[in-house]
Amino acid sequence: MTRSSAISSPPSQGDPYATLAAHYDAFFSFHREWFQSARNRILHHVFPTLESACDLACGTGRAALTLAARGIRTYALDSSPAMCRLARANAREARATLRAPLTVHQADMRDFSLPRAVDLILCNGDAVNHLPRRAGLALAARSAARALRPGGYYFFDVNNWRAFERLWPQTMLLERPGVALLIRGSNDPRRRRGISESHWFLQQPANGLWLRHSERLEEVCWTPGEIRSTLRRAGFTTIRAFDSARFAGPGLTQPGCRTFYLARLAL
Ligand SMILES: C[S@@+](CC[C@H](N)C(=O)[O-])C[C@H]1O[C@@H](n2cnc3c(N)ncnc32)[C@H](O)[C@@H]1O
Repeated sequence: MTRSSAISSPPSQGDPYATLAAHYDAFFSFHREWFQSARNRILHHVFPTLESACDLACGTGRAALTLAARGIRTYALDSSPAMCRLARANAREARATLRAPLTVHQADMRDFSLPRAVDLILCNGDAVNHLPRRAGLALAARSAARALRPGGYYFFDVNNWRAFERLWPQTMLLERPGVALLIRGSNDPRRRRGISESHWFLQQPANGLWLRHSERLEEVCWTPGEIRSTLRRAGFTTIRAFDSARFAGPGLTQPGCRTFYLARLAL
């Protein structure tokens, strides 16, 4: 790619995952094994009891596929139309490995409902940090509580301030043929947010020119106190927290940066 062959387009509006969706699995698969190991270990006593589940903010649907492959009837929800399209395509491709139905729907985690109550809701990949306003955390917890059967489980992870402070302020260049992604991370201590600016360079198959465009994503830092009080107000009575570093391979994270929460609704 040469500087003179790059042309710019304005930042995309609306769906911050519109461009990323198509490259998400290629560029961001480093967390899959780590999260799967966390789910297997934290939910080992829950899995044998599960008949149904919902993967909230499912992205490309990888976790939902593993649930359906275990024979758990699964709903996969995401607010990004691009992510939903990919999750559906991945479900179609993996059809032969699924032992229970998997359906994908576009929905917002702050206001969703399911055709019937489920036993488990997953919400992984710091999706809860994506909620732009503090009220959103409570709306998401209440929607999860409504969608669960009594005694059901809500399992999610969040980036903590330590992650925004220690891991985010760096620049990364990710490349694949025809695609380069420059990510600049930073944080805003006053607003307690992590900021990620993505600069995409996409080679156009028609003419070989490179199209450049930029996207900005902010993640909100929730304190453990805010999370616990929000979950309790939504009806979750048992709340357990696990440092994600316990489940991660070398170099993936540091202690205190990401927490997995397992919350259980009253029976
Ligand atoms: C970092 S990705 C994580 C995807 C997947 N859960 C994983 O672990 O790979 C965050 C996802 O959250 C989705 N998302 C963000 N805000 C959302 C909302 N309010 N409701 C539903 N999905 C949302 C995004 O579209 C994106 O797919």
